[in-house]
Amino acid sequence: MVTGMDSSPAATHFHRRAELQAFDDTKAGVKGLLSDPSSTATTAIPRIFHLPDDDPIDAVPTSLPAGGTLHVPVIDLGAGDADAVAEQVGRAAREWGFFQLVGHGVPAEVMEAMISGVRRFHEDETAESKAALYSRDPMRKVKWNCNFDLFQSRTANWRDTLFCWMAPEPPMPEEIPSTCREIMMLYSEHMTMLGGTLFELLSRALGLNPTYLKDMECCRGHYLLSHYYPECPQPDLTLGTSRHSDSGFLTILLQDQLGGLQVMHDNQWVDVQPIPGAFVINVADLLQLISNDEFISVEHRVLASNRGPRISVACFFTMFFSPLSTIMYGPIEELLSEDNPPLYRKIMIKDYISHYYSKGLSGKSALADFKL
Ligand code: OGA
Ligand code: NI
Repeated sequence: MVTGMDSSPAATHFHRRAELQAFDDTKAGVKGLLSDPSSTATTAIPRIFHLPDDDPIDAVPTSLPAGGTLHVPVIDLGAGDADAVAEQVGRAAREWGFFQLVGHGVPAEVMEAMISGVRRFHEDETAESKAALYSRDPMRKVKWNCNFDLFQSRTANWRDTLFCWMAPEPPMPEEIPSTCREIMMLYSEHMTMLGGTLFELLSRALGLNPTYLKDMECCRGHYLLSHYYPECPQPDLTLGTSRHSDSGFLTILLQDQLGGLQVMHDNQWVDVQPIPGAFVINVADLLQLISNDEFISVEHRVLASNRGPRISVACFFTMFFSPLSTIMYGPIEELLSEDNPPLYRKIMIKDYISHYYSKGLSGKSALADFKL
């Protein structure tokens, strides 16, 4: 059936689908592609990874020149009292949707051990054990794959990802790959603690009782996405992660020192310069929704690079497996007034997540679909 000469849109679509399927069937991800001696991916990336050429924002990976004046705000959790820190958190959440956090109390050794654990999973786990864990089943708490939206998005990203739903009901320890099991569980405990602190600051910044967001169960659940971005021979043709906003309430990101993460600010891409020992914190869609647009969930992306692998771990505070995912969330009543009417309808987290997943990383906000 494959004619090789037929370049009609339908044929192109057919080839793409078949190529995606063949790639997914390898259950080896981008990393596997690069270590397969019969593949040419070490010099030319397969076309399923090519950016569409009709999307100027993604097709031109521009950033500010080095020495550019814009920087994501940096907040020191250890400097000043809770009100002063909450003030800074509030300003960053309103103006940028992003900030970097230092003085947070998570030991540097834990952060380094987490990066090493993720590297061990992606590099040292046997091919058989990785193939057994490769899955797109939404009900599996622990799995890995290459692009959760491989079959939904227009372009595949140069990235492999391990998913672990850790709270409120953690997986059985033996479900977590042995290469990173212990550190995954320890790191998750630190995320629960730091998440509690951050939601308290965010509550204060909204002028609410400090336990307000915690009482709403915003930080009861989290999952960890452990990303591995291999070096890419043609970094201008693809992305590590397409532009998107995050689906949960809040994200705590640990990144190594290679760089590549960019956020949209004032209509331009701004580099999030790695700072040793810092976390990158960002407001996600559900927090924008419950804050009725006071805090903003901002688009970000990761460039591909010929230096790699780059490793990052995103902790998403949200709910999915738990019965708590059926709680309804809408704009917080205390924030509303005649001048500030609700902008969104009430939704269940599980419906939001399904909607977000069905769209994939398309660069179009899933939140907009819930506007009143
Ligand atoms: C994400 C994300 C950024 C990174 O997982 O949603 O934006 O640096 N990750 O990997
Ligand atoms: Ni993200």
